Amino acid sequence: MKALGILAGPRKGQVTDHLLDEVLRGLKDKGAEVKKVYLYDLKIEPCLACNACKDTQECVINDDFKAVAQELVNADAVVFASPVYVGNVTSVAKAFFDRGVSLFKMTNFGPKWLHNKPKKVVLVTACFAPFPFSHILGIVPGCVNAMKNFFGMMKAKIRVITATGGWDFDAKKCKGALAKAYREGLNI
Ligand SMILES: Cc1cc2nc3c(=O)[nH]c(=O)nc-3n(C[C@H](O)[C@H](O)[C@H](O)COP(=O)(O)O)c2cc1C
Repeated sequence: MKALGILAGPRKGQVTDHLLDEVLRGLKDKGAEVKKVYLYDLKIEPCLACNACKDTQECVINDDFKAVAQELVNADAVVFASPVYVGNVTSVAKAFFDRGVSLFKMTNFGPKWLHNKPKKVVLVTACFAPFPFSHILGIVPGCVNAMKNFFGMMKAKIRVITATGGWDFDAKKCKGALAKAYREGLNI
């Protein structure tokens, strides 16, 4: 099994990155071939809405998106991790999703995923607001729904991991979420 981990936040070694690593560790222990990419190290321009991809399923912008998109298509499992930024995913994650629309064929019945893979997706997020405010105020749901909007178009099997109430990574505070992350990787 090929697994792709994508960190869509800028802070390496912080909360979402740790949770992502735990899912990937579970996947590795399961025997998966794991690759990890940091979107903030790459150049991913925003979508220009030129609509060229409607016919070609290929984006006209030549930047790092294409290489990650190919990894995404080739992967059996994808772990996508974005911290909550203003009740949503990070701007880089959003740019990636907007550009990712090029991978689907637009039909009268909605977007059609043309590739077999990926089928299994784990979404990871973290926010500063503590539970239950993180959820009642729509902070975590806003971010998770944004990620689901994209991966849902692939008709993927989706699992979600969240950590709330933190800024810097605190292994004690994240203990439950880290354990869940590892399990999700192992059981994917
Ligand atoms: C620009 C920005 C916007 C943020 N917006 C929110 C927010 O709307 N709600 C919230 O609870 N936390 C918010 N946070 C806090 C982060 O989601 C939180 O610290 C998270 O743990 C960061 O993930 P990381 O440790 O992986 O970088 C924001 C942080 C930044 C930098």
